[in-house]
Amino acid sequence: MAGPGTGDLEAMIDHDNLEEFADPRNYDIEEGTATEPAARFYGDLAERVGGPVLEIACGTGLVTLPVAARGVDIAGTDISRTMLDHARRKAASHALDIDWIEGDALTLALGRRFELVYLTGNAFQAFLTDADQDALMDSVARHLVAGGVLAFETRNPSSHDLVDRPEESPWNRYVDADGDVVTVSGTQRYDAGARIMHWTTYRRRTTGGEPHCRVSRIACRFTDADELRARLSAHGFVVEACHGDFDRRVLDDRALSIVIICRYRPTAARSPSGRATRAETSGRKPAR
Ligand SMILES: C[S@@+](CC[C@H](N)C(=O)[O-])C[C@H]1O[C@@H](n2cnc3c(N)ncnc32)[C@H](O)[C@@H]1O
Repeated sequence: MAGPGTGDLEAMIDHDNLEEFADPRNYDIEEGTATEPAARFYGDLAERVGGPVLEIACGTGLVTLPVAARGVDIAGTDISRTMLDHARRKAASHALDIDWIEGDALTLALGRRFELVYLTGNAFQAFLTDADQDALMDSVARHLVAGGVLAFETRNPSSHDLVDRPEESPWNRYVDADGDVVTVSGTQRYDAGARIMHWTTYRRRTTGGEPHCRVSRIACRFTDADELRARLSAHGFVVEACHGDFDRRVLDDRALSIVIICRYRPTAARSPSGRATRAETSGRKPAR
């Protein structure tokens, strides 16, 4: 499978950054209940804003499905066919009508616009460079009506353990889809220059007396709230709320997440220096 992102990606990681998403049934077991606050938050937002809604990097639809179950007109897109196939099966078994679209968020061109676009599961952190974050925001802009809403969350750098931990530490334990007990452990290496955490996860189980270990790598970029605000503003997004978690707590240094809700106002696009950006000066016609 082709890896996501721009050419810069190859210089930073020697994998496609999708290894964590190779086993969707067990992804759901590991992540399932943890996504409930996100499902409530984005479901409430979707009801308030109204459809149609697009979830970018929707994975197996852990949040897409509960949002759709609230009667919201929603589409989900992801680069991983494996994750999407699982999402499709689950939606069919719940008789939920969701449009699933395979594609790279950075080059997506659906030819449709939505009232709300959101990303969750910290999927924003998969965009590892300034160029990728810019391309993502351009892509969101191509898919939002003027005045539409973009929302996403990302781990707050100030409350995370952004250091190297080369020794394997125990992380988790669960019973997988085949009934095997899986012990999960991992290491981390932080690239402070690029602000990228490289996590390696080891999932060990014993099946029929045989030990198995699945190793997967993932790289995630950490971006602080000030930088996010500046980049969003340069792309014509006006931040309306910035919370410290899905319960809308205040964003301070201890908050685990940065949860951002912003509105797309193409004529408000400003460079970080305050000068009008290309979006404003090129005379691009607002969508609505
Ligand atoms: C942590 S998962 C989150 C999935 C889902 N939103 C959730 O909350 O469970 C990140 C997802 O981003 C997808 N992804 C990574 N890079 C992508 C890209 N460039 N375009 C679209 N999807 C991408 C992965 O395939 C994966 O399904």
